Amino acid sequence: MTRERRGLQTRLIHADEELNDSSAISPPIYQTSTYRLSSPEEGARLGAEIAPAKFYTRYGSPNTKQVERVLADLEGAEAALATGSGMAAITVALMSNLQAGDHVVAQRTHYTATITLLAEVLPRYGVEVTQVDQRRPEEFERAIRHNTRVVYTESPTNPTLDVTDLRFAAELAHAHGAIAITDNTFASSYNQQPIALGYDLVVHSATKYLGGHSDVTAGVVAGRRDLVERAWEYLRVYGPVLHPFEAWLLLRGLRTYGLRMREHNRNAMEVARFLEGHPAVERVYYPGLPSHPQHELARRQMPGGFGGMLSFELKGGYDAAYRAIGRTRVCALGVSLGGVETLITHPASMVYAHNSEAELRAAGISPGLVRLSVGLEDVEDIIEDLEQALS
Ligand SMILES: Cc1ncc(COP(=O)(O)O)c(C=O)c1O
Repeated sequence: MTRERRGLQTRLIHADEELNDSSAISPPIYQTSTYRLSSPEEGARLGAEIAPAKFYTRYGSPNTKQVERVLADLEGAEAALATGSGMAAITVALMSNLQAGDHVVAQRTHYTATITLLAEVLPRYGVEVTQVDQRRPEEFERAIRHNTRVVYTESPTNPTLDVTDLRFAAELAHAHGAIAITDNTFASSYNQQPIALGYDLVVHSATKYLGGHSDVTAGVVAGRRDLVERAWEYLRVYGPVLHPFEAWLLLRGLRTYGLRMREHNRNAMEVARFLEGHPAVERVYYPGLPSHPQHELARRQMPGGFGGMLSFELKGGYDAAYRAIGRTRVCALGVSLGGVETLITHPASMVYAHNSEAELRAAGISPGLVRLSVGLEDVEDIIEDLEQALS
């Protein structure tokens, strides 16, 4: 008897096989912007299709089809759409479901550009947004209005690692005729499966764990087929598509996703424990630690693990943080996350520089907060590096 569904690593390596029409094990890169059409009829047919594979590269390409197949499989989604960045995914997922007069319930803490989109861009197009404390389900409930169309979440949050009750948020949206969309970048699909928790759409910055090697900027929208097709229409109009080479790089990164995530989880847990026990550290934010106020909720909705992201505050506040991040040698000082290398960042000055002080305060990002994307180096070396930087 065969198992109903193959294991994750097998699917990551084989799910797109039938879409490779060559005998090359590593699929060819279709580095072309357009295709020779076999007849006027074929041209008319492809021109009217949603996301044809071989017509015009802004509409899609064999490389995006392959990576979308693997991403849909990974999310347990009906369909997936690859985009040119995580923000492209978030923008098309939201814009394709909203119009003037609609209302969105979102969180007070989101990725920096998402905050700008929610607080500044959407209101200019007549969409109202209420941002709530993501740790309090009752605030989501109170924020719902008759015209709420989208409940938008992100859990754990970047960079404060707060946990949102995702099942609750999805059920609340549906009970009021809205749809639920979540940014799953920080958690990763290996650890957390929002579609199984009731979500209609999941978005990611695939620049992070999905690509995994800090060499590609990409995004994904996955979920209900009708909503993914609608998102494609907006991607076709706005234009921030994933190009063939980038799609190929993302696919190559995905082949080892399960193995990488397992190690990210393991290394981050060890680093979190080390930091929690360090005398210079005031507080560690990592949902895998029993001291995290929402540890039980995280255990329930992140069955795969708690991810590779953590933040911490030093006893000396901003000055101590700045001193420490300038001294690491294994941990590279830089923005972004989810790659094989450990990255250390100062969110207030490096990531949220385009947000107002009020937005930072509302998002709970203090001047002394340090964020760590724990990579895949030997964990003893990461810890030794942090030890010397904190000494
Ligand atoms: C949680 C989260 N969502 C979205 C994005 C945006 O992704 P991209 O930079 O690929 O546009 C980021 C980027 O850091 C992120 O951390």
